[in-house]
Amino acid sequence: MSHIQIFDTTLRDGEQTPGVNFNTREKVQLALQLEKWGVDAIEAGFPITSPGDFEAVTEIAKVIEKAWVVGLARCQKKDIDRAYEALRLAKYPQIHVFLATSDIHMRDKLKMSPEEVLASIKEHVSYARTLFEKVQFSPEDATRTRKEFLLEAVQTAIDAGATIINVPDTVGFSNPTEYGALFAYLTQNIRSDQEIIFSSHCHDDLGMATANALAAIENGARRVEGAVNGIGERAGNTALEEVAVALHIRKDFYPAQTKIVLKETKKTSDMVARLSGMNVPKNKAVIGGNAYAHESGIHQDGVLKNPETYEIITPQLVGVKTNALPLGKLSGRHAFATKMQELGYQLSNEEIKELFATFKQLADKKKQVTDADLIAIVADQLRQESIECQLKTLQLQYVSNGLQGAIVSIEDEQGQVHTASAIGPGSIQGIYNAIDQIYQQKPLLTSYEISAITSGEDAQAEVYVTLETENQAEQASGVGIDFDVLQASAKAYIQASTQLKKSEGNK
Ligand code: KIV
Ligand code: ZN
Repeated sequence: MSHIQIFDTTLRDGEQTPGVNFNTREKVQLALQLEKWGVDAIEAGFPITSPGDFEAVTEIAKVIEKAWVVGLARCQKKDIDRAYEALRLAKYPQIHVFLATSDIHMRDKLKMSPEEVLASIKEHVSYARTLFEKVQFSPEDATRTRKEFLLEAVQTAIDAGATIINVPDTVGFSNPTEYGALFAYLTQNIRSDQEIIFSSHCHDDLGMATANALAAIENGARRVEGAVNGIGERAGNTALEEVAVALHIRKDFYPAQTKIVLKETKKTSDMVARLSGMNVPKNKAVIGGNAYAHESGIHQDGVLKNPETYEIITPQLVGVKTNALPLGKLSGRHAFATKMQELGYQLSNEEIKELFATFKQLADKKKQVTDADLIAIVADQLRQESIECQLKTLQLQYVSNGLQGAIVSIEDEQGQVHTASAIGPGSIQGIYNAIDQIYQQKPLLTSYEISAITSGEDAQAEVYVTLETENQAEQASGVGIDFDVLQASAKAYIQASTQLKKSEGNK
């Protein structure tokens, strides 16, 4: 059995999902859960891109004990230096340097000749190697790169000191036959006196990301990059839970195993879904809500006689609980704290105290507070902490002719309260018009999505909005969770408006 390293990029490529923005606290919670899940490497961010990314990588580096903590860098000295600084306190630091090698990227994006690209790889991988023991190199857009040039680029990186070669299918163009053949070609043709680990990195534009990663393993890859729930740029990345479970269930076919603790899978997926605001589709493999539901009579009959008739994965294998015990209004702080730990959150006493107060308010309104409710409470709390402006009060009034009036008060980070009133053809429109007055901006609401966190009429609501400036130059998103739909809508809009105002101000 060969060991397949799992390289998680939920916090880097996953954060490139349109509308996903993790703050440092959220990233640290996620990194701790990823480590518990058993990943070998955590790509914590791209430190040069923003002070927020730098801070998140630094904080993750401080708390991760067993996994490699990785920082991304372009082939530029300032990127490599910034990654080095951010990873200084990591127990096992690693750098991931990349440069595009396809003709279209070299010519139209980089405006570099193939010779200049090779020289840059040599210079920057060598430089990275002076600071890091482990250097991973990615020839971006590898699957659309001329094969012979790809080999030359990879050999240059290896000669300069890279011992991990990641082969990105950046635009999700490849298929399993081609991608597998590319790994066979590279592994058979490189020269090195050191062990070189080949890694897959697949995007899901044609829905083949997981199949491509498995084809890479069949052809010599010993590392798989991807994200939990398959989130990531455009259509997303390889869903790591799918790879881990596929290798386990089909060990008859793949003589390979990972260190993933499969029973931590559902918990990890739930945390990513809540903190990213990206709900998992019901029909998603392994972790979707319907993955263990049997609808047709024939199937139900079969499963009752022997679950294996229609179930190749048991819910228990991936930690899907069929009898999660809900908390109620009589539950005490100890039971609450224990439950939070079970759900994978590592919180201070102060945080537990604050969350317990929120839980009690919710328990007064709901008969049973489920695991999904609790995950939503923590997600909301972690998110609200990094939002400078908070909804203070919200009042609504029916005006006439179907018009609704809203009075909104928002507290800014200096503690100053701003109030405005407005009307609209509906409650939400009235609230959003009032918020626009406070921010003195008139963005376009490009999407508004509402979902219930649990089933039942007393479910908490999650609202996700995206906004765009009138000239379409800036976009922002926000998520609001509340028992009340209108409050959740206001929170989401305030979060997105604050972000939009900030990016306008930064210009
Ligand atoms: O998709 C891609 O090419 C990437 C690289 C930075 C590895 O994410
Ligand atoms: Zn990618």
